Amino acid sequence: MAQISRISLLLAALLALATGCLAVALPQPQPQPRNVDEPDFAAESFYSSFWNDGTAKVKYTNGPQGQYKVDWSGNKGNFVAGKGWNPGGPRVVDYSGTFEPNGNAYLSIYGWTTNPLVEYYIVESYGTHKPCSSPTDDATQKGNVTVDGSMYEIWTKVRKNKPSIQGTATFSQYWSIRTDKRAGGTVHTDDHFKAFVASGLKMGRHNYMIVATEGQDSNGTASIVVGVAPS
Ligand SMILES: *[C@@H]1O[C@H](CO)[C@@H](O)[C@H](O)[C@H]1NC(C)=O
Ligand SMILES: *[C@@H]1O[C@H](CO)[C@@H](O)[C@H](O)[C@H]1NC(C)=O
Repeated sequence: MAQISRISLLLAALLALATGCLAVALPQPQPQPRNVDEPDFAAESFYSSFWNDGTAKVKYTNGPQGQYKVDWSGNKGNFVAGKGWNPGGPRVVDYSGTFEPNGNAYLSIYGWTTNPLVEYYIVESYGTHKPCSSPTDDATQKGNVTVDGSMYEIWTKVRKNKPSIQGTATFSQYWSIRTDKRAGGTVHTDDHFKAFVASGLKMGRHNYMIVATEGQDSNGTASIVVGVAPS
């Protein structure tokens, strides 16, 4: 930067001499390139998503920056709400907050890929039902991965004629389920994606990815801040 300024000053001086012009334009200060590793939370904008099956009673409040709040009641229906990125993909996801379900609910890094169409969950916490754990879930365990301070179990199942980002479709769900539940921390999503692929679970092109609260026939409240790790 400094060297360029000296060169432009020299060029300007030579130009002034050559033209006999005394009004030398001083070089303008150049904007500094931003170091991409620096946190710049204020400048980060988040993608927001709220899906409701039409029967769940849910109030989703989209707060500033990475904040959102969900209150749900009625113990009926299914919804998925949260904030994140579009497209998603390999990322270091910080988040914090509270997750207080009564009944079945998930707090996860949740997203989709296309070609193949995949719905994935990196489950950080859940309510009364551990996903994939009952015979009716019809899920298959593919392995385990230890990352970000806990073991996660890798599971998969097929969803037949279910709602998707491409309408009603048949597709696979991939699950990475944290053994040591938490509501706040840092998630290296790429470690989970690599574990899926290493287990034979192919991923496609990333669509959206959010820090999601999902409720199923339950009630509860969640207040989440995406982009901020617990202090
Ligand atoms: C919330 O869900 C729990 C667990 O299913 C249930 O026992 C409770 O009655 C529900 N509370 C309300 C206010 O609906
Ligand atoms: C994953 O870990 C669990 C608990 O330690 C173990 O029972 C299971 O066999 C492991 N599964 C695979 C597929 O490695």
